Amino acid sequence: MVSHFTLHLVVAVTFSVSLVCCQDRKGPIFTIEPPNRVEFSNTTGAVIPCAAEGVPPPTIRWAHALDGSYISDIPGLRHVRPDGSLMFPPFRAEDQRPDVHTTDYRCLASNSVGAIGSRDVRVKGVVSQHYVVEVYDEFVPPGSTAVLRCHIPGFMEEHVTVMAWREEPSGKIIQPSTSLGSRFLTFPWGTLHIRNVETSFSHRSYKCQTRNRLTGEIVESATAGRLIVSGMPMRRESIDSWETVIIQLRK
Ligand SMILES: *[C@@H]1O[C@H](CO)[C@@H](O)[C@H](O)[C@H]1NC(C)=O
Repeated sequence: MVSHFTLHLVVAVTFSVSLVCCQDRKGPIFTIEPPNRVEFSNTTGAVIPCAAEGVPPPTIRWAHALDGSYISDIPGLRHVRPDGSLMFPPFRAEDQRPDVHTTDYRCLASNSVGAIGSRDVRVKGVVSQHYVVEVYDEFVPPGSTAVLRCHIPGFMEEHVTVMAWREEPSGKIIQPSTSLGSRFLTFPWGTLHIRNVETSFSHRSYKCQTRNRLTGEIVESATAGRLIVSGMPMRRESIDSWETVIIQLRK
C-alpha cells in the first residue's frame, strides 16, 4: 500500500514539474495591440495599452517609430507602466512638447525566442482651449425650410461634435435623427433643418449643444438663433424638391 502511494506521488510530482519546466517556448504575440491613433487633451492625459504573451513572458518596451530607439521616462510627461502601457499624464500648456506629445511610437515585445513590434501609434496631445459656440437668427418665408447652423470656432471643429439642439421657450430637445416624418432634421456637420415653417413659429429660438470628444466637456451655444418667419409663402414645389434631396441622401 505504502509503495503504491509513493509511486503515485512520484508520478504526480514528475508530471507537474514537467509542466512547469519543460513547456515549449513561444515567441511573443500581442494580446493587446495599441491603436494607430491616439488623440487626447492636456486635461485628461492618456494611457495607451500594449500587452503580449509568450513563453517565457515577454518584456514590453516602447520605442520612437522614427528611429526605433527606446523611449525614456520623462517625469510628469511620459511613463511606461509595469503592465506595458504607455502613459501621458495631464500636462500644463507650457509643458507641451512636440517630441513627446505629437509624435509616433511603437510597442515592442520580446523574449528569448523572438521580438515583435506593433503598428506605429500616432500620438497627439492637444492643449484644450476655451471655446464659444454661436447660432445666428434665421429669416425665412412661411412654408420654407429654415436652416440653423451651429458655429464652432475653426480651431475646435475637429474635436467637437453637435449632439443636440434645444428649442426655446418650449425646452424641447431635438436629437439627431433623419426621420422623414419629423419636421426637424439634424445633420452631423452641425445644421438643424426645420421644414415647412409657419408664421406662428416666429420667435422660437434654437441653441445647439456640443461635446468635446477629447475631454467630454459639453458646451451649449452662447446665443440662440431666433426663427423669424415672414414674407411671401413658398410655393409647394420647393418643399417637394427639398424632400427629394433628403430621400437621395438617405439612399
Ligand atoms: C490644460 O491647458 C489649459 C489651457 O492652457 C489649462 O487651463 C489647463 O489647466 C491645463 N490642464 C492641466 C491639467 O494643466
